Amino acid sequence: MQPERPIGVFDSGVGGLSILRALRAELPAEDFIYFSDAGHAPYGEKDERFVRERALAIARDLVERHAIKALVVACNTATAAAVQLLREAHPGLPVVGVEPAIKPAAALTRTHRVAVFATRGTLASAKYAALEASLAGQAEFVRVPCPGLAAAIEADDAQRVRSLCERYTGEAGRFGDAPGEIDTAVLGCTHYPFAAAVFRELLGPAVRLVETGEPVARQSRRLLEERGLLRPRGPGAVHLETTGSLTALQAAASRWLGL
Ligand code: DGL
Repeated sequence: MQPERPIGVFDSGVGGLSILRALRAELPAEDFIYFSDAGHAPYGEKDERFVRERALAIARDLVERHAIKALVVACNTATAAAVQLLREAHPGLPVVGVEPAIKPAAALTRTHRVAVFATRGTLASAKYAALEASLAGQAEFVRVPCPGLAAAIEADDAQRVRSLCERYTGEAGRFGDAPGEIDTAVLGCTHYPFAAAVFRELLGPAVRLVETGEPVARQSRRLLEERGLLRPRGPGAVHLETTGSLTALQAAASRWLGL
């Protein structure tokens, strides 16, 4: 594996751009191939087997066509369904996954009540159940599946994003910093940071929003460093690919990453 090779990053759509934003800030010299599987989205409402097959096919394709030196699964749903299989299928390849940041949230909450906004697929997965079980007794996690929200963000439909956020934050319970209220909200789908302003407005200033971009970027740097795979000189570039509309992906990358 050579340090000059690019890093592959994939998601079901534009959500992984929230992870790519953090990766570019942490690793400005690196080249990235960003793959959006918008032609097969949303992952969160498909069965696990389908998501697994897509993840394996995308990883194989990125390895074969681009000889990527590392893979970032910038999707909570695909990580829950397939990260283990991806590591088995590509033993020499560093694979970094993304999971809802409930561990940092458990450390932050004072009321010991945390809302976890994520896809149905993520919240129903065995991987998420194990993660929550590992924190038993530290906080109560209110799971809030948000069907349709990733698709509304993908379609850049501000009105629908707002009405779904209103519905799902309403379903979660009372937010605030008084005893019994939820004081910490985990954005457990990589699309949701692009609706962070709406969540913030609806939840109020006392509630902390937790997302995963920065820790994932730091973990990616650590893995590359350990293996001597950091690209010595930049600046790095981003190459976009998709099974959906390239124009829509380019517009999202320009809006959110200034690309
Ligand atoms: N962005 C993805 C995640 O982090 C999934 C969105 C979807 O396709 O449902 O879970």
